[in-house]
Amino acid sequence: MTAPSYQINASPQPEVRPTCIGPGAHNYPPPKIPLLPVLTYGGLGSEKANNPSLADIPHILTSAGRAAIVLALQHAGITEGDEVLVPAYHCESMIAPVEHVGATPVFYSVHANTQIDMLDVERKVTSATRAVLATHYFGFPQRVCDLRTLCDKHELILIEDCAHAFFGETNGRPIGTVGDYAIGSAMKFFPLFDGGLLASSSRDLASIEQFRASIALELKGLVSVIEYAMRYGRLRLISLPLRITIAVKDLLWGITKKTMRGRVGDNLAPPSSEGGYALDPYWIDARMSRVSEFILSYSRVDRICERRRTNYCRIVEALDGVPGMRPLFDQLPEGVVPLVIPMTITDPATLFPTLKNLGVPIWRFGEYLYPQISEHVCENSVYLSKHVFQFPCHPELTDKEIDWMVETIKSHAA
Ligand SMILES: Cc1ncc(COP(=O)(O)O)c(C=O)c1O
Repeated sequence: MTAPSYQINASPQPEVRPTCIGPGAHNYPPPKIPLLPVLTYGGLGSEKANNPSLADIPHILTSAGRAAIVLALQHAGITEGDEVLVPAYHCESMIAPVEHVGATPVFYSVHANTQIDMLDVERKVTSATRAVLATHYFGFPQRVCDLRTLCDKHELILIEDCAHAFFGETNGRPIGTVGDYAIGSAMKFFPLFDGGLLASSSRDLASIEQFRASIALELKGLVSVIEYAMRYGRLRLISLPLRITIAVKDLLWGITKKTMRGRVGDNLAPPSSEGGYALDPYWIDARMSRVSEFILSYSRVDRICERRRTNYCRIVEALDGVPGMRPLFDQLPEGVVPLVIPMTITDPATLFPTLKNLGVPIWRFGEYLYPQISEHVCENSVYLSKHVFQFPCHPELTDKEIDWMVETIKSHAA
């Protein structure tokens, strides 16, 4: 079967709003449909939300999730000589913060379904261990209550990594409320250029001092978000005047970069907003931009949660029985708001470039593991990093875009 040859609304330009769930270092064409949430008129509104969100917990807004991890570690007093237990299935932006505060990351294993291997965590605890970072992969929660018990037993700080789980609940408790700290990556769930969050239901974060980023970041953020939306055929009514504004912005941005070089270095935007996984110390203490803050507070949260769940189920069902792929998780439990659809692929080496070259949006979490992660350290992490692709299920995907993605995947899977 071949995919329908319908014209998707993306112009053939490079990604303008890449984040660390962006396209990676390869030279693939930009996705034909948006990988990330897009700004739309329908997504904005101020109705009261029923779904639990990290933003309901006392929090501060940061430039990115990785900055929030550093701030959590610093706030907890973790420093040189300390050990922090981190998952073997990871990306650089989870580990770099531990190294930044001078602590040693110690990797623990995960099971094939991404659940934390509690026995291995327990085995890795030493007298130097101070904290555990626990990731709710793709929005599917860990058994944090068990982990809480383990942390209490050894007097360890528990940091819930909710970069993939901005919404939802687990064991009847809102996500992010069991740990001493929770970190979020707002950019992954809202149409933002920058933004993370550090929350704590038990600790006072008021002592953390932050600075406001430059007006240049505000402008770049605003224009990038609108540009990304327009590229995918959204925000049509304001399209023409904006195209002119964007052309002027590109010109001014080029000039600004040239004239500011050497004075502010490359610090005009956080690496997370430019598609990188690295940690730039300059952005650790920066507050989320005002533009992102506005969009965050003026987004329809229940719509995000409901549509993510609906799209997830619809796409998983449509891909049911396709040879060479199956969902990583058997079900979508109540209360889970998925970031993406993780699918286990039998022959990733062939399918990945094929789909990417056709413009199918794919994210591969953990594609680049730290070199010390071999099959001896965690066989499952090595397998997951190679064999699990993630497809988008964000609320702004149209029916037509979902159909195109599904048919393209179906017609090229083994
Ligand atoms: C599991 C996980 N934790 C933390 C981060 C860091 O978040 P941010 O990109 O907002 O810095 C990421 C980024 O992809 C992530 O996937």
